[in-house]
Amino acid sequence: MHLLLGLETSCDETSIAILRDGREVLVNLIASQVDLHARFGGVVPEVASRRHLEVVHPLLSSALDEAGVGFGDLTGVAVTHGPGLIGAVLVGVAVAKGLAFSLGVPLIGVNHLEGHIYSAFLADPALEPPLVALMVSGGHTQLVYMEDHGVYRLLGRTRDDAAGEAFDKVAKLLGLGYPGGPRVQEVALKGKADAVRFPRPMQGRGYEFSFSGLKTAVMHARESFSPEDLCASFQEAAVDVLAGKAALALEETGASRLILVGGVAANARLRERLTADCAAAGVHFVVPPMSLCTDNAAMIARAGWQLASRGVVSDLDLDAFASLPL
Ligand code: KG4
Ligand code: ZN
Repeated sequence: MHLLLGLETSCDETSIAILRDGREVLVNLIASQVDLHARFGGVVPEVASRRHLEVVHPLLSSALDEAGVGFGDLTGVAVTHGPGLIGAVLVGVAVAKGLAFSLGVPLIGVNHLEGHIYSAFLADPALEPPLVALMVSGGHTQLVYMEDHGVYRLLGRTRDDAAGEAFDKVAKLLGLGYPGGPRVQEVALKGKADAVRFPRPMQGRGYEFSFSGLKTAVMHARESFSPEDLCASFQEAAVDVLAGKAALALEETGASRLILVGGVAANARLRERLTADCAAAGVHFVVPPMSLCTDNAAMIARAGWQLASRGVVSDLDLDAFASLPL
């Protein structure tokens, strides 16, 4: 897989990347739809699929141009085939199949969550399993033990809202706008993390998460505290729960590496806390740069490359899935 094209359209980012020899990202273009969905306060699935359709071909031309690569140079196509918004996933899968078929190169269906895990392998090329992955995004919150390439054990996930979803809902509740994560983080800078005594949901109860109660607690405290203190205290509670369960996973699996992936990995407080915790525990901590944390095609290409190197490729009847376990 000398030049692998990656395609990602599972939510509200259309992204195309070209990866050389499994490690060098020649280009990783991301066309975000955030502005399009902002006025609805969240992603509207049908609007997302239509925008993917509009931008995917121009983006493909730009990616090839920027990488200085022609269609005929591509040696494979890796695409997210789930989990995600089904109409959105279908756009990427259809484009990828068309490309793979017309160029006569292998097609590789990639699980979006596996893609997020491999963002850490792009960030740290020397990284090797076994490791613990804390995957936190707008759609997912889970702890996974990666024993080897392709060998995963789900330790636990959220029962209700994802961590990013909780940030988004708290921001909406406080009228801070969308997407909520960055806004809450910014407002939290001026508040006190111990001002409101928010619960630490599911703490001490294994690896399952729950964030909807925390959001409700913010709603009830809204009248009595400033937005700054509410944001700082909410963020601290969320970070505390995530860090606590990550520490438990490291302890119980005996893994000496932790990766933090997904959109919420952009959160400065979470990065700071995990950096400190891992340093104290002698754990190697990897968190990718922002451009690789939010949805992007470079991570899909990297995961696809790993699959192809083990001979795992897809047929042209590859399906798209709204839900797809690791
Ligand atoms: O991985 P991602 O781009 O898309 C999904 O697959 O969901 O993650 C987006 C999520 C949103 O919920 C957003 O609010 C959250 O990541 N996020 C943050 C921060 N930046 C983005 N959450 C907390 N703090 C941030 N700085
Ligand atoms: Zn994602």
